[in-house]
Amino acid sequence: MKDLKDLFEHQLKDLYSAESQLIKALPKMAKNAHDKKLKDAFESHLAETKEQKERIAEICKELGIKPTGETCKAMKGLIEEAEDLLKEDASEEVRDAGLIADAQRVEHYEIAGYGTVVRYAKELGHKDIAAKLQKTLDEEYDADNKLDKLAEGRLNKKAKK
Ligand SMILES: [Fe+2]
Repeated sequence: MKDLKDLFEHQLKDLYSAESQLIKALPKMAKNAHDKKLKDAFESHLAETKEQKERIAEICKELGIKPTGETCKAMKGLIEEAEDLLKEDASEEVRDAGLIADAQRVEHYEIAGYGTVVRYAKELGHKDIAAKLQKTLDEEYDADNKLDKLAEGRLNKKAKK
């Protein structure tokens, strides 16, 4: 890796791996969520994540590189943590709270990753690619906000008890 272009390509491959792993993990998270809204949030983010993965594949094609060949170890670890939580004997409410916590960690990780590649794309003069990556970044922010609201809703419900 010798210049920003190489680093940019490496980061894209890393994100491609992250999205691919998440596509495999989200159905399990949706299945284990008790709250209907949380289940729906995971399912709609799954559809979005598939598009995001496709978006990176398109970008890589434009750049003349393969999107595959990297494993995002951070996403692997985040997913492992979520799987560990599901093995725990917990109430439905606590499990949902834990799933929200794990999902928000994932979103924040992706927000950091996409924020970086948007900047690199601009710096390297790839205006259209920067716009595409910004679209994904916006979706990740929205997903995180949705999870925030669900977490707050949970708190409010509890306060009313
Ligand atoms: Fe994503």
